[in-house]
Amino acid sequence: MPHYKWDLAGSPPPLQRHSEVKHTLLRNYLVDYFLTLVPMPQQDKIQLTIVDGFCGGGLYQNESSQEVPGSPIVILEAIQEAQAQLMIQQDRRKPIDIDVELICIDESQNALDYLRYVLHQKGYERSLAEDKIRLIKGKFTDHCSTAIKRAEDRSPKSGRVLFVLDQYGYSAVPLHCLHEIFSKLKHAEVILTFYIDALLTYLDRTNLNNFERKTGLSTAIQASDLDATNRSPRWRGRLQSLLYQRLASQSSARFHTPFFIRPERGHGDFWLLHLSQHWKARDVMANTHWSHHNHFAHYGQAGFDMFSTGYIGKLDDGNKLQMGFDFSDVAAEVSKSTMMAQIPRLLFDRAEGITFEQFFLKLINTTPATQKMVQKTILDLHQLGEILVVDERGDTSRARVQLKGGHILKLPSQRSFLF
Ligand SMILES: C[S@@+](CC[C@H](N)C(=O)[O-])C[C@H]1O[C@@H](n2cnc3c(N)ncnc32)[C@H](O)[C@@H]1O
Repeated sequence: MPHYKWDLAGSPPPLQRHSEVKHTLLRNYLVDYFLTLVPMPQQDKIQLTIVDGFCGGGLYQNESSQEVPGSPIVILEAIQEAQAQLMIQQDRRKPIDIDVELICIDESQNALDYLRYVLHQKGYERSLAEDKIRLIKGKFTDHCSTAIKRAEDRSPKSGRVLFVLDQYGYSAVPLHCLHEIFSKLKHAEVILTFYIDALLTYLDRTNLNNFERKTGLSTAIQASDLDATNRSPRWRGRLQSLLYQRLASQSSARFHTPFFIRPERGHGDFWLLHLSQHWKARDVMANTHWSHHNHFAHYGQAGFDMFSTGYIGKLDDGNKLQMGFDFSDVAAEVSKSTMMAQIPRLLFDRAEGITFEQFFLKLINTTPATQKMVQKTILDLHQLGEILVVDERGDTSRARVQLKGGHILKLPSQRSFLF
C-alpha cells in the first residue's frame, strides 16, 4: 500500500479510489451514528471524543486530480452534515450541539504540519486554539492510554468514544490498546483498517512472528500454512477467515462487523473492522452498509453463519475468487431467503424456545443482516406458521411489525424437519 507524503511546498499526495471508498464509509457511518445519538428534538447536546489515531495530513488528490479531504476533515464535515440533517429532520429551532473533541495522532511531523495548514484553510483555527482539535505527534500505541483517559474524563458516564485506526499495514494497533479501550469505555467503538492481503502475500515464519509479537495476537496459523507451495485462492480465503475470527475474538469487543474493500485492480484487499460494545452500534454500521452499498464488498455469505464455510465462499471456474456479498437489493433478497431457511433450523434443538433478544445477540456477529431485517424475517415466518412467536404471557403473539426483546421464538410442536 502506498505511503503518503505531505509536504507544504508540494501538492497533496495521490489517493487511490479504494481509499476514497474508505472515507465515504467513514463519513456515512458518522452521520448515521450522530443521527442515532440524537433521536429526540428535545435533546440539545451530545458529548463525545473521537480519536483519529493515524490521522495523516488531511488532504489528497484523487484519481481525477481533485482535492479530497483526509480522515480528520471527513470527521469534522460529518459533524456539520449531521447537524444540518437534524435541523431539518427534527424541525429544530435551536441547532444541536455535537460537542466533539477530536484528537489527531500521527508519528509524522510533516503530516501534522500539513493538517494544521489544512485546518486553518478550512476555518478551524478557533477549534485548534480551544483544543477542540488536538494534534499530537507520536506513535498511536504511546498515546493510546492518554487518549482513553481524556475520553473517560470528558464522558465518565456514557464512555462514548470513537477510535478511527487507519494504520498502513496490520501491526501498529496492538491488542493491549484495544483491551484498554473496551475495558475502560462503555460505549467505545473502533474502526480499524487491516491490510490482510499485505500480511498474507508476504507470510513467512519471520513476518508471522513479528506480527504476533507486535500485536499480541495469537493467530493459530500452522507450519503447513506457511508452505509457499500450498498457496491458492482457497488457502487465502481460509486464512482470512481464521485471522478474522482470531482478531475479532481477541479484541475484547462484544460486537464486530467485518467489511472488506477490494481495489479494482487485483490484490490489495483490506478490512475495515468495526468493533463495538453495544449491539446498536453494530446495527448502525450494518445499516450504513446496506444504505450505501454500491462501494462496499463483503466476501461473506448471506444469512447467518457467514464465516462457517470459509469466508470467501466460492471460487469461479477459473479458480478466481467470486465477487462477494455486495449489500445490493439482490443481496437483501438472498439474505432474506437464506434466513427464512436457517431460522427454523436454528430453533430446532430449543424446545423451550429462546427470546428474540437472546436469539439476535447470539447471532449478530455472524450476519450481514440488520436487526430490522432479522425481525421482519421472524415475523414473516410466524405469519406462515413456520415458527411460533409467543408473548410474555405465553400467548401466540399478534405482533406484525415489531418484536419485543422478551418475545419467545420456538418451533410449532408438530413441525418436523428433513435435513
Ligand atoms: C493510511 S495513512 C492515514 C490516513 C488518514 N487516516 C486518512 O484517512 O486521511 C497512515 C498515517 O499514519 C501515520 N503513522 C504510521 N505509523 C504510525 C504509528 N505507529 N502511529 C501513529 N501514526 C502512524 C503515517 O504517518 C500516516 O500519516
